[in-house]
Parts: sequence; C-alpha cells; structure tokens
Amino acid sequence: MDELPNQDGGYHPVLAVEIGRLRLQNPVMTASGTFGYGQEYTPFVDLGRLGAVVVKGLSLERRDGNPPPRIVETPAGMLNAVGLQNIGVRAFIAEKMPQLRPYNVPVIANIFGETVEEYRRVAEILADCPGIGGIEINVSCPNVKQGGITFGACPDTVQEVTGEVRKATCLPVIVKLTPNVTDVRDVARAAEAGGADAVSLINTLTGMSVDIERRRPRLANVTGGLSGPAIRPIALRMVWQVVQAVRIPVVGVGGIMTAADALEFLIAGATAVEVGTANFVRPAATMEIIAGIEAYLVRHRIGDIAELIGTLKVDAETDAGQAEGC
Ligand SMILES: Cc1cc2nc3c(=O)[nH]c(=O)nc-3n(C[C@H](O)[C@H](O)[C@H](O)COP(=O)(O)O)c2cc1C
Repeated sequence: MDELPNQDGGYHPVLAVEIGRLRLQNPVMTASGTFGYGQEYTPFVDLGRLGAVVVKGLSLERRDGNPPPRIVETPAGMLNAVGLQNIGVRAFIAEKMPQLRPYNVPVIANIFGETVEEYRRVAEILADCPGIGGIEINVSCPNVKQGGITFGACPDTVQEVTGEVRKATCLPVIVKLTPNVTDVRDVARAAEAGGADAVSLINTLTGMSVDIERRRPRLANVTGGLSGPAIRPIALRMVWQVVQAVRIPVVGVGGIMTAADALEFLIAGATAVEVGTANFVRPAATMEIIAGIEAYLVRHRIGDIAELIGTLKVDAETDAGQAEGC
C-alpha cells in the first residue's frame, strides 16, 4: 500500500478520481435536484470537502415546476414530481456561482431542455463560466419536437443531444441516463458515440401512488420519479452492465445512503458516485460517506481508491445480460 504520511501522523489513502479531464478530490458528489444550488446545505456540509457539487437541473429560462403535492414518501424511498423547477441558467451564473466559487470545488451544472437547440444554448452559456467543472446532461425530459417522448429513451436522440452539447463546450460532459428504457447499455453507447466524457446513472424510475380513501393520485402530476434505497439494486445492476458496455467512466447514482452503499457501486466499476435522497434524510450524509470510504480503504490497507474500483469478482459463467432470477 502507498502510505501517505499526513499532518496528523496517520496514513491516508488517495481518494482522488478522474472523470475525463475533471479531477475530483474524492468520488462523492451530490445528485442533481437533491442539494439545491449547494448553498442551502452549508449549515451541514463543508462544500469544499465534496468531490463535486452537482446543482439542480438548469434550463434556458426559469421554470416554476409542477403544482403541489409534488412529493410522496414510499416504502424505502420517495416519489417526486417537482417538474424541473429552477431559476434559469443566467440567474444561476449571476446569483449562485459567486457563492459557490469560494469553496474551490468543481461545480457540475445539470442541464435540460425541451429541444436539442435548448440543450446546446444552455451549454454554450455555461461554457465560459469560471468555476464550472463540467456539464451533466439530464436526458429524462420530454422532447417537444417528438411529441413528448423522453430524450433519453431513444439512443439516436441521446447521441444527437450529446454531440450538440459537446460542440458547444470544452467542459467535461457527463450524460445522465434514465432507467426507464429496455436496455440502458444501448443508450450509454449512444452517449459515448456522441462524445460524452462519462455517463451517470440512474435518474429516477417512473412510479405512482394512490390515496385509496379519496381515490386520487397522491401526486398532482399523477406519476413521479422514484428514488431512494428502493431503487439501489436496480441502479447497481445497471451501473455494472454499463461499465462493461462502454470505455468511458461511469458515475453511480441511486439509493446511496451510506459508505457501504457507495462502495458497492465503486467495486462494481463506478469511478464516482452521486448521493441524492440521503441528503433529505441526513443532510450531512455526503460527509459521512466520504469518511466511511476512507475508513474502509484504511481497514483493507488499500492505498489508492483506483485499486478498488471495478474489482468485483464474478464467476466466469455469469454475465451482465442474464440472471433475472427465474
Ligand atoms: C426531488 C428530486 C429532484 C431531482 N431533480 C433532478 C434534476 O433536476 N436533474 C436530474 O438529472 N436529476 C434529478 N433528480 C434525480 C436525482 O439526481 C437522482 O438521479 C435520483 O434521485 C436517484 O438517486 P437517489 O436515489 O440517491 O436520490 C431529482 C431527484 C429528486 C428526489
């Protein structure tokens, strides 16, 4: 083990990872939409200790989102239909970035649009903004020109959006994949072909909940996105499949509540992770997860996290395409 003497006389493993040209001091990022614009969490979290801050999805113009109720608790998770409420990309740069820059931590701007052109415009506006470390493309939104079919459901559209954003900026581009598809590997390959530096997965799974007394949906939007521990095994399976399908780094997202959960994703091959719903339950969850990953590496005498990533031992006869339990 490469032991690195530290100021306190102890030995600390290397936690830094790279996503394309983006270097993170550790693999723990926040998941978009669960951490506001970062500043909201400063009473609980030292933003400067995070791998990166991924902010709420940004569009060209501000959006008010869906009417309430927009959040419902579910067994081991939650449904949300916030509807991509945000202040708009220009207001984000003017009002939020000055507060984030002093922390010296990469800020990843999660972006979305209703047309390919809108994605490109948002990326262009962010391209020259100091402090932005990368762009995460949220493809889980309806494509207005294609009658509302989600961008992320169609590999060709994902390749096109990725290619347009790629042309608009030199920043590292991460494509955030939706799990609401038949085979997520096809979409991951399309993102790679479009020039993505990495893919992140998963976004929420579409779900719904009914109030049986009122015989009404619990969400005003009827359906919403399921997140939290309930989706973790699905997210982990998809990450493992995608790791084997592409050559670019994969970021694991979905139900990560503890360091042990994050380690499952890293061992399965994720280069980094994003923590979402856990922030609502324990606002300092990201700090606990970073400390827990470090403690695991020390306990296992692993000097560099790179020695752990992708070390899952799988019997030769099992492969990523099978094993549905029947
Ligand atoms: C309230 C809420 C808002 C979200 N907003 C966004 C968003 O703006 N853009 C995006 O790409 N993902 C968004 N997500 C999805 C999360 O980033 C994450 O992919 C998902 O919740 C799974 O991770 P988790 O189980 O750790 O929460 C949102 C999730 C929640 C719960």
